[in-house]
Amino acid sequence: MLNQSFTEKFKKIQTPFYFYDIELLKKTAQTAIAEAEKYGYKIHYALKANSNRKILKTLKTIGFGADCVSANEIIRAAECGFDAKHIAYAGVGKTDREINTALDFGIFTFNCESLPEIENINKLAAEKGKTADIAIRINPNVDAHTHEYITTGLEENKFGISEWQFDEVINKIKSLTNVNLISLHFHIGSQITDMKVFEVLCSRVNQIQKIFENSGIKLPHLNVGGGLGVDYQNPDTNQIVDFKSYFEIFNKHLHLHDNQQLHFELGRAIVGQCGSLITQVVYVKHGRQKSFVIVDGGMSDLIRPALYKAYHKPENLTSAKAEQIYDIVGPICESSDCFAKNEKLNETQRGDLIAIRSAGAYCEIMASQYNLRELPKAYYSDEI
Ligand code: LLP
Repeated sequence: MLNQSFTEKFKKIQTPFYFYDIELLKKTAQTAIAEAEKYGYKIHYALKANSNRKILKTLKTIGFGADCVSANEIIRAAECGFDAKHIAYAGVGKTDREINTALDFGIFTFNCESLPEIENINKLAAEKGKTADIAIRINPNVDAHTHEYITTGLEENKFGISEWQFDEVINKIKSLTNVNLISLHFHIGSQITDMKVFEVLCSRVNQIQKIFENSGIKLPHLNVGGGLGVDYQNPDTNQIVDFKSYFEIFNKHLHLHDNQQLHFELGRAIVGQCGSLITQVVYVKHGRQKSFVIVDGGMSDLIRPALYKAYHKPENLTSAKAEQIYDIVGPICESSDCFAKNEKLNETQRGDLIAIRSAGAYCEIMASQYNLRELPKAYYSDEI
């Protein structure tokens, strides 16, 4: 249950809106950093999960670097205090404008996804008289056992460079004068809850590092991406992800060279549980087969259920009556505008406040103005 002390304050705010529990964010972030530091690992926070300025400034202060996927994310990270030396930049379609921006900032590394991209970065860096530090993003062909839209490490996906291309890419990089290979990069998918998947990733990374070693290449950095999932079913009992077990897996199964620095790019596991979408019930509609709770927030505010059939636990903040079964739906003209089906909720009436939980990652940032709706605003536990 969301901390009840906020409910009275929520009643004074125009719904729908995002609410962030900053205490929980800090606790989660500090736990992640402390567990990673045990092994000297670095975490770059994946801005794409939530690039809200207050969240970024908080994470920067706690000690994260940044993982960006656009020039605008790089600019946002810099504005929020992240040092360019700790910004990694990934993405299959980096444009010239974006590459030039990243070169001007002097970022830590470009995570390169194809040979034409590497050639282009080399050309643009040469024009500026610079040398760009790059990583090859590897497509390791490892199944992340997650939703097909958020699986990225299979050969059928558009991401990264596959093993059969290594010789060509290595030879090409050796011939280029304005790129400097410093790292290999892996990211196999998101919302991964089966820790065994990370063990499989480690053994694949070990094999691939061997291939590069056999070509005489020993790299000072290695980046294994993000992907660690959160518990959407139990946001209260599992507020903070098991970072301890996660980093232990890499410590146990991954073979690093001497002095090789290991990097992670976590997004969801850092911010997922600290956010909620707060909505108000507009109507309760009783049909013959179902009762619908119609709330004022919809798929334009939080698209994950419509896009991935994702579950976000709804919670009635203003009723303690016996539970009933409802479909909780939004106001938008699409049947997919539904937060949950056949969900138990305390008996609900018009005017009740419903929190849609675990909405800190990939929610506010994916909001749209579909149906010409307003973008939801954000409020914070330490400011309301
Ligand atoms: N690094 C790279 C290269 C990525 O592509 C991603 C996420 C991350 C790191 C961070 O992954 P995380 O730790 O957050 O799993 N919109 C989808 C998720 C898309 C993830 C895209 N890449 C969703 O709502 O589930």
